[in-house]
Amino acid sequence: MEREMRHPFKVVIVTGVPGVGKTTVLNHLEKLAGERGLKVRIVNFGTYMLETALREGLVSHRDEMRKLPLRKQLELQALAARRIIEDAAGSLGEDGFLLIDTHALVKTVAGYWPGLPKHVLDELKPDMIAVIEASPEEIAARQARDKSRVRSDIGGAEGAARLMEYARAAAFASAVHYASTVAVVENREGKAEEAARNLLELITRL
Ligand code: AP5
Repeated sequence: MEREMRHPFKVVIVTGVPGVGKTTVLNHLEKLAGERGLKVRIVNFGTYMLETALREGLVSHRDEMRKLPLRKQLELQALAARRIIEDAAGSLGEDGFLLIDTHALVKTVAGYWPGLPKHVLDELKPDMIAVIEASPEEIAARQARDKSRVRSDIGGAEGAARLMEYARAAAFASAVHYASTVAVVENREGKAEEAARNLLELITRL
């Protein structure tokens, strides 16, 4: 039997290395979409994982999740993907856009780990995987400035450059399963709104 390739609403997965500015760009996009009367729902994959991890007493904050045993992260990942779609199905119709703030690759204590493996994609069925990028130096500077998060083991500009290269490859690998487009969007210094405008333009063409 032919498998379902899409949800009724459009699904856009937004990836990028920690601190590149995914959440900032998506905040701008939500405002711009509202001005154009577009129905968007923006969710953070890590927040869905965190809800369960906190309830089970596994972590005290979100940056600890990628240090959990991989089998546990796998469980949290599967549950998050399922819940994200269940929640969106209740609020979005055919004209809606679900944007999921997440990672194509997670740097764990046991190696690089795919944020969008097949079992996650089977739930999300993405129309697009967007990769938010900036220069490694800008990313390192943003990570250092943002005191609300612990990203010290990413490894500065050199680490960000390596992770960005691997994460882009992981995004393309994930795109194969559900014939998703891959859109690389630059989030230049002081230009987060411009990045949001560019991303919004791309998703309205899906
Ligand atoms: P997540 O919640 O995604 O956290 P993160 O990776 O640490 O990064 P953020 O999302 O907080 O950074 P951001 O890129 O959104 O940057 P921000 O906008 O804040 O993930 C948490 C954890 O969940 C992961 O570590 C993992 O364990 C788990 N997880 C998530 N998805 C998973 C999956 N699929 N599978 C398994 N595990 C998963 O911006 C940073 C700073 O830069 C801010 O200060 C901002 O003001 C500034 N800034 C942004 N844009 C600009 C600009 N253009 N110019 C100047 N400054 C800017």
